[in-house]
Amino acid sequence: MRLYQRCLLGLSLAGSLQLASCSTQPTKDDETMTQAQSDLAMAAADAHSYAKPTEAVARHLDLDLDVNFDQKILSGTAAYQIENLTGTDQIIFDTRDLEIEKVFLGEEMEETTFRLGDSKEYLGRPLIVDIKPDTKKVTIQYKTSPNAAALQWLNPQQTAGKKDPFLFTQSQAILARTWIPIQDSPGIRITYNAQVKVPENLLAVMSAENPVEKNNTGVYTFEMEQPIPSYLMALSVGDLVFRQVGPQTGIYAEPATIEAAAYEFAELDKMLEAAEKLYGKYRWDRYDLLVLPPSFPFGGMENPRLTFVTPTVLAKDRSLTSLIAHELAHSWSGNLVTNATWNDFWLNEGFTVYFERRIMEELYGKEYADMLQVLGYQDLTNTLNDLGPGSADTRLKLDLEGRDPDEGLTDIAYEKGNFFLRNIERAVGRERFDAFLNKYFSTFAFQSTNTDKFLDFLRSELIQGDEALAKKINIEGWVYSPGLPEDFQKPTSARFAQVEEAFQSWISGKPAAQLDTKDWSSHEWLHFIRMLPESMTQQQMAELDRAFNFTNSGNSEVLAAWFLHAIRNNYTTADQALEAFLTKVGRRKFLVPIYKALIATPEGKKKALAIYAKARPNYHAVSTVTLDELLK
Ligand code: BES
Ligand code: ZN
Repeated sequence: MRLYQRCLLGLSLAGSLQLASCSTQPTKDDETMTQAQSDLAMAAADAHSYAKPTEAVARHLDLDLDVNFDQKILSGTAAYQIENLTGTDQIIFDTRDLEIEKVFLGEEMEETTFRLGDSKEYLGRPLIVDIKPDTKKVTIQYKTSPNAAALQWLNPQQTAGKKDPFLFTQSQAILARTWIPIQDSPGIRITYNAQVKVPENLLAVMSAENPVEKNNTGVYTFEMEQPIPSYLMALSVGDLVFRQVGPQTGIYAEPATIEAAAYEFAELDKMLEAAEKLYGKYRWDRYDLLVLPPSFPFGGMENPRLTFVTPTVLAKDRSLTSLIAHELAHSWSGNLVTNATWNDFWLNEGFTVYFERRIMEELYGKEYADMLQVLGYQDLTNTLNDLGPGSADTRLKLDLEGRDPDEGLTDIAYEKGNFFLRNIERAVGRERFDAFLNKYFSTFAFQSTNTDKFLDFLRSELIQGDEALAKKINIEGWVYSPGLPEDFQKPTSARFAQVEEAFQSWISGKPAAQLDTKDWSSHEWLHFIRMLPESMTQQQMAELDRAFNFTNSGNSEVLAAWFLHAIRNNYTTADQALEAFLTKVGRRKFLVPIYKALIATPEGKKKALAIYAKARPNYHAVSTVTLDELLK
């Protein structure tokens, strides 16, 4: 309903603008609509933002924040350069759990009136600011709440160094509004400058041009000159040091972690080169990583110029770096060309998974990338089973209206999206597809796009009226239908074929210690563990553990997969390691399946609740929201 109203509203206000989500046919006038208007029209159709960007839109942000670790509060001002497109007397920002103190207009800082609308659970409240037709600047003075969902305030014990507190943000999907009053739609882009004051012994970094060392004032300034959507606003504060990797790349981490990180990510520059070779110049100047404490709720987050990454990828053998390839790939798919609404999330993640595996193929060969495809396919199958094959959430184009977008953002976008692109690649050949993708990224650079716009581009650039080709590409089956279409080609892996052989011989009685696992990477191990039967005897579990030491693996992927078997088979030898893992690691992707496996039995549930009570204070809100629901 809401979307429909917005649609009508947008039409009446923006004259004959064709709104992306409206079902009316494009008009002649549509062709004269500028790119900027088209972007705003898509953002206006975003059901997850209160902003009305076709009326008044923010273009630049000057952020001035004080970071108070004692109170767990950010306070300061967000000053926006705005454009009043219709001469309206209001501009609307998204907020959630923010205390808005005062709002000023213009360089003269004339105080103005404002009101906060009703609160809706995950959407928060609209901040409606009274402006004048010629207002160019709006300054909002505000404070965050100690439980702002984007922020995690860590005490020294929760860091690697154990000496200093730590703060990080996670803004995607719609959490930027919990630490900045902002037009929080991925269809709206702003440039920003920031000044951040932190305790003197700590360093602040952002998704922007960053300092490389601490100063003695504790005041740091930042500049992001390329326009970015709000979900890429990011800040972290801690005892951080910087280490150069290549001319364009580097790593920020706590001193206790920097050595391990420098080893793990030594190939960062090579990765960047491989990516540029595939899809064109890197448009963000530097590419650095920030290694966070283990409570970081994701594997990685593609904050521009500074990817945030979990320390659980530090496997000591560089075996989990496809995650870095993934976040790097977002510098094109996502950060440069951005999904206009969360319904188009597959444009961010599906393209990125496809691109990630092309980077890995470039660096480590096809056999390596094939393993990733098969593991991805397994994830996809699990998600399809969980959601049910007929579920509307298994379509690429989503409808998340009325729901927290976080709920709908599943492996469908990632893996079905990836396999759709592989299907197109197969239909037109790699050379043509790469040329197409290059053109896609350059045509829509620093813009938002939605599913329809991408498909139009696909039709005009690739399909070009070729009906046989259109049939092969099968847009309807992939984008708008649930499940997997019939033309889906299951990926295969030669290296996994050997794993399957080893597995078969073990099942047929060959001792685990005699299996030929010499050159296995963590991917082969993961495949092996995932293949193990649901139900195994204590002897089988113990034999595997003796031969391969899974319970004490230093590889987080291996460990997380092994724990699922340990739980199902009540293999108590792993209890201690399991509890240690759950209390230390806050990565939701690992936590959810493990807790799910635990609560499948009454005794397991007891264990889960006991561990959760201890572990919960270590988790970020992104993870506790999901787990509270699961364990309630
Ligand atoms: N942008 C995502 C993380 C994200 C998605 C945060 C949706 C909030 C809402 C990031 O690029 C990502 O996909 N991370 C993955 C790793 C990747 C290798 C699949 C993760 O964290 O597991
Ligand atoms: Zn991603």
